[in-house]
Amino acid sequence: MWSGRYEAAAAESVRRLNDSLPFDKRLYASDIACSLAYAQALHRAGILSDAELSAIADGLARVRAEFDAGAFVFAAGDEDIHTAVERRLIELIGAVGGKLHTGRSRNDQVATDTRHWQAQAISRIIGWLTALQRALLEQAKQHVETLMCGYTHLRAAQPISAAHWLLSYFWMLSRDVRRFELTREATLVLPLGSGALAGTPYPIDREALAESLGFLDLSPNSLDAVSDRDFVVGFLYAAALTMTHLSRFAEDVILFSAPPFNFIQLDERYTTGSSLMPQKQNPDVLELTRGKAGRLIGHLTGFFGTLKGLPTGYNKDLQEDKEPLFDAADTLEALLPALIGAVETMRLNPEAMRAALDESMLATDLADYLVARGVPFREAHGLVGAAVRAAQAQGVTLSALPLQSYQAISAHFQPDLYEVFDFAASVAKRKAFGGTAPEAVRLQIARAESFLGERRA
Ligand code: ARG
Repeated sequence: MWSGRYEAAAAESVRRLNDSLPFDKRLYASDIACSLAYAQALHRAGILSDAELSAIADGLARVRAEFDAGAFVFAAGDEDIHTAVERRLIELIGAVGGKLHTGRSRNDQVATDTRHWQAQAISRIIGWLTALQRALLEQAKQHVETLMCGYTHLRAAQPISAAHWLLSYFWMLSRDVRRFELTREATLVLPLGSGALAGTPYPIDREALAESLGFLDLSPNSLDAVSDRDFVVGFLYAAALTMTHLSRFAEDVILFSAPPFNFIQLDERYTTGSSLMPQKQNPDVLELTRGKAGRLIGHLTGFFGTLKGLPTGYNKDLQEDKEPLFDAADTLEALLPALIGAVETMRLNPEAMRAALDESMLATDLADYLVARGVPFREAHGLVGAAVRAAQAQGVTLSALPLQSYQAISAHFQPDLYEVFDFAASVAKRKAFGGTAPEAVRLQIARAESFLGERRA
């Protein structure tokens, strides 16, 4: 393809190092779609005749059919997917195929193909993420009134609704979906028509070209268009952050499905056995979620490293964008269906959740009781702390601590203080929007429904 200037073929070791075909061949559908659109743009510009366009369009359709059928035969000189497609096109339709590359460089071609591929991957991933959100939401709807121990520092903190815990991940994922949507917008900016770096001397209507490929905008600077891959960084960032959220969720479910928690029962189909210990049902899906998060964070930091020192214009380093991009997309697309299944089929165990509640978790409510009687919160906090110590000293729970012990601490404690020891009442009080009261959780659910509704269209 660039042999004109060369006397000797590249050394075998160089070819192996340089060739991107082994991993970029999966871009074939994007490459052919973008080439077809480009041929039409050349035709509109008067560079291809009607007959030439129809020969090229025909030829591209045949190449595409060969790929789809798994019948495409690569040749020794195919360096990447772009050269392979063009080589085959020329074999099939003759020299006229050589007109397709007029005014185009692989630099604007590969940037365009990669964006085209990435935009489609984002749409699929958003589909999986919203399906996972749906699964969380359906579980949450079943457990608005289920009481659960809420933790800080992994120590029992305050009672919450189990739906509130589940929905916390719904909202993390809603921001991930939004990030992917914004990344898709930034991805659909068309580089084609930039040539190798300086732009094209042919009267290509780039506006029409963008529209025909479903791109939303045109790159305003050819040099920038061929030499940056910030859209890939955007993808890797959205993927790494999504995985970070999924990893936290996985860690919660691993803990909560293990003794002594037993808050969650995972469906057998989403666990795996041990080759040695017959009793085991291991949460491998969740462990892989947690584990693969590390790998995707690595892709993001690794690719930052690739970009940071590049001088102006295209550099071959940019070919390093594809493996992390493909691997991040493949990881999400392999993981999410299994995770969705695990969430859909897991069963919460309200009795075990209830059993994990203990009255010390209502100490804040007892402080609020004193606040309602005019005691400043800071002081109330100290008085309840003294009650907790007294209960510990007597070896009883807060609700079994006698009134006289309470009143020895403060005269503000009255017989009605014992009404505080009601977990459901504690939860129901937290009804300001965003809180864990069933009333507030129902509003959250309505918001969650509309988030998903807006994305169903
Ligand atoms: N395989 C290359 C890549 O993925 C295509 C662009 C090659 N351009 C060049 N000037 N060698 O980046």
